[in-house]
Amino acid sequence: MDLIDLLSLCIALILARLWWRHWSVTGSGPRNLPPGPPGWPIVGNLFQIILQRRPFIYIVRDLRAKYGPIFTLQMGQRTLVIVTSSELIHEALVQRGPTFASRPADSPIRLVFSVGKCAINSAEYGPLWRSLRKNFVTQFINPVRIKQCSWVRQWASENHMKRLKTEALENGFVEVMSNCRLTICSILICLCFGARISEERIKNIEAILKEVMLMTTPKLPDFLPILAPLFRKKMDEAKELRRKQMDCLVPLIRNRRAFVEKGEDPDLEMASPVGAAYIDSLFDMKPVNRGPLGEQEFVTLCSEVISAGTDTSATTIEWALLNLVQNQEIQEKLYQEVIGCVGEHGVVTEEDTEKMPYLGAIVKETFRRHPPSHFVLSHAATNETQLAGYTIPADVNVEFYTAWLTEDPDLWKDPGEFRPERFLEGDGVDVDMTGTRGVKMMPFGVGRRICPAWSLGVLHVHMLLARMVHAFKWLPCPTAPPDPTETFAFTVVMKNPLKAVILPR
Ligand code: HEM
Repeated sequence: MDLIDLLSLCIALILARLWWRHWSVTGSGPRNLPPGPPGWPIVGNLFQIILQRRPFIYIVRDLRAKYGPIFTLQMGQRTLVIVTSSELIHEALVQRGPTFASRPADSPIRLVFSVGKCAINSAEYGPLWRSLRKNFVTQFINPVRIKQCSWVRQWASENHMKRLKTEALENGFVEVMSNCRLTICSILICLCFGARISEERIKNIEAILKEVMLMTTPKLPDFLPILAPLFRKKMDEAKELRRKQMDCLVPLIRNRRAFVEKGEDPDLEMASPVGAAYIDSLFDMKPVNRGPLGEQEFVTLCSEVISAGTDTSATTIEWALLNLVQNQEIQEKLYQEVIGCVGEHGVVTEEDTEKMPYLGAIVKETFRRHPPSHFVLSHAATNETQLAGYTIPADVNVEFYTAWLTEDPDLWKDPGEFRPERFLEGDGVDVDMTGTRGVKMMPFGVGRRICPAWSLGVLHVHMLLARMVHAFKWLPCPTAPPDPTETFAFTVVMKNPLKAVILPR
């Protein structure tokens, strides 16, 4: 080795050491970020995480035990600050809500589907987000509109029950998740476009939205943009998928516009009066800083509603039923409550479900014991700020790990047990799901970005669960016993989807 080689090696080692110092984040580091595991040069902790080949939610659970309630992961060029304690979550999202109410930068692929962050869930905290969210809350989920559209849920749940009966006759058991997804998706499509469409078309929309969700999960170049040229094919695939999504939804939008503007309905599928569908409120919208919306934005905003509301509610029903199948006495108690309200041969209405406290307790216990997601969506600070004595720059992802709250033995007695009674008399009675008084569980998030449709989501779960238990006794399937093993697929779902035998009551 000559002198030049030796010199180059020394310089390389010094540079590597500087990188290491820069990326190996600790509380006392130059950026004063929360502590975290030392990373490798350039890639930070990225490959340490990938090489574990475990869902991220489980890795975070272990890191929490080691680094405490707030820590940092350096994922390539993205910095993730992970917040896990009830006190810090409450401070950030409720007490200092506006400061932590923004969203981080989107990946190029996500930007294709959000048309430049023109969706409620991805818009930065500011005028666009405010006008989109205000329109959604006032036009789509105000109590009058929810009541006006109760026929949609009635229609979809009748189809649901018929499908369950047919499937049970054909197979001897029913698959819970696929049926619930289809039913909830059909409700949301009808609420968005005012149209009652065939099951085949609903399945097609559902399949495309699933593909979009898969396509927009984080990929390597989101953390290491330098690798983006190697993933150009993925970008082409994303644009192709977007075209497919547009081709599938634009006809619904055009039909609705013709109905709203000219009263035309050649396919006789318009089922909601003018003004009652979400899309009607978007046609004339001119959000601040964006101007009039076009078909690209309509597709994004309606897809967001269908995606946000389908898996979350369907997952909850599946976990609730798993517990009812495994605990027949809880199921019987619920059945007695339902027939106490509507009789053995009555029909459960939405108003009836409001008079069923045990049903409410079962659903809350399901949200506690099986939160559909272990994180809320990624947040970002609007400006550099401080939390727990550390610096939180504006350009980092702030991730709130919420599953720990419901596993914490200091907050819950026997947290691993499924015991709905705790919400009637016990440690769950005073729980405030909106988190104003403190957070013990937050399936819908809390603060400025709390799920704006949480009451609608709960209504879907209550309605379907009450009707399913009213009509059938749910029993384990002997060839596929219920298995509570979890896996992650947008929401935390059962690794082996629940199959159950149903007996007409
Ligand atoms: C059981 C049902 C549901 C659960 C558990 C749920 C949960 C959540 C969670 C955890 C968030 C993120 C909160 C945050 O980032 O801090 C969220 C946001 C959102 N959800 Fe839901 N959700 C449900 C149903 C629905 C339904 C039915 C819709 C639409 C009809 C919907 C629309 C949205 C939207 C638009 C956002 C973005 C809010 C924003 O960023 O301002 N969700 N939801």
